[in-house]
Amino acid sequence: NQFSLIDRLYNDQILSKEDFICLIEHRTKEDAEYIASLARKEAQKIYGTGVFPRGLIEFTNYCKNDCCYCGIQRSNANVSRYRLTPEQILSACQCGYELGYRSFVLQGGEDPYFNDERMVSIVSLMRKTYPDCAITLSLGERSLESYQALHAAGADRYLLRHETATEEHYQHLHPKEMSLAHRKQCLWNLKEAGFHVGTGFMVGAPGQTAAHLAEDLLFIKELDPKMVGIGPFVPHHDTPFKDEPSGTAELTTFLISILRLMNHHLLLPSTTALGTIDPKGREKGILAGANVVMPNLSPIDVRKDYALYDNKICTGDEAAECVGCLGRRMDSIGYHLEFCRGDYR
Ligand code: 5AD
Ligand code: FES
Repeated sequence: NQFSLIDRLYNDQILSKEDFICLIEHRTKEDAEYIASLARKEAQKIYGTGVFPRGLIEFTNYCKNDCCYCGIQRSNANVSRYRLTPEQILSACQCGYELGYRSFVLQGGEDPYFNDERMVSIVSLMRKTYPDCAITLSLGERSLESYQALHAAGADRYLLRHETATEEHYQHLHPKEMSLAHRKQCLWNLKEAGFHVGTGFMVGAPGQTAAHLAEDLLFIKELDPKMVGIGPFVPHHDTPFKDEPSGTAELTTFLISILRLMNHHLLLPSTTALGTIDPKGREKGILAGANVVMPNLSPIDVRKDYALYDNKICTGDEAAECVGCLGRRMDSIGYHLEFCRGDYR
């Protein structure tokens, strides 16, 4: 087993690229149980058994990009495109606030309609209406000036996954007009603009190797983000990767544990994609050291149109109140939802 590598990661909070590759390639069930127990213990020292819910509002599925993995890529003519109005966004927040949420995530495709003027106006309105809530944005790549304006308008956090930290692999996942260098620059710019930054990647993305994952972990160490979102790749039937296999819950949870040991304080979501490939995926993510969940707060009628991948959970009307479902799921494993801003501690 690899307990000695795991102990070294636990003590030093970093390994060399070769050691990460070794840990990932030779992991056993025993290793996964051991690293998860350490990861859980460290998460509980800082965050207890509370799990922070973030209400996710998917406000536009227009996107100018063509990421090979993503169901709302611009080339997918089968998507019924929508944009929520500011009123619809605020009313989703109102619903969420009444359910207890104090943390909202506005996520969308890279939609040029939502220019700085429109976004600043939406964020300002949210900030004024909900002074006690955390506002997180997930709008993709924008200029430093744009990030600064959004931060000044009252947004606290920004999620932008780097997707993969290896140049060739980045090109395999994205068309030529996108680049890893620009993605990384955006992440540094977000920090400069004052955001608490989240990054991340998909597990089991087509073409991904253990060496790519090791580079992802080293890049995350260098960036030193406050949040890291990882979830399994899940194919979407209208994309070039439609016949590729999904990532596994087993490797995803193992990587969640590694991330927890690399920074005990991280905000680590147990993602919807993990819940999609495994009926107990989100519970397993928490037990591997995650401490955030992101229930869907989008209006029910648009949820099916924000399909980044196939079979996404929480899209039917039975999912009207994901928060109840997730509350019961957390209780079932000895955790509970903790309704607050959920700041980095
Ligand atoms: N499977 C899993 N995750 C996906 N994402 C996009 N498409 C897929 C997919 N097919 C993830 C990306 C993106 C985040 C919003 O969703 O990592 O950053
Ligand atoms: Fe959305 Fe369970 S969390 S239906």
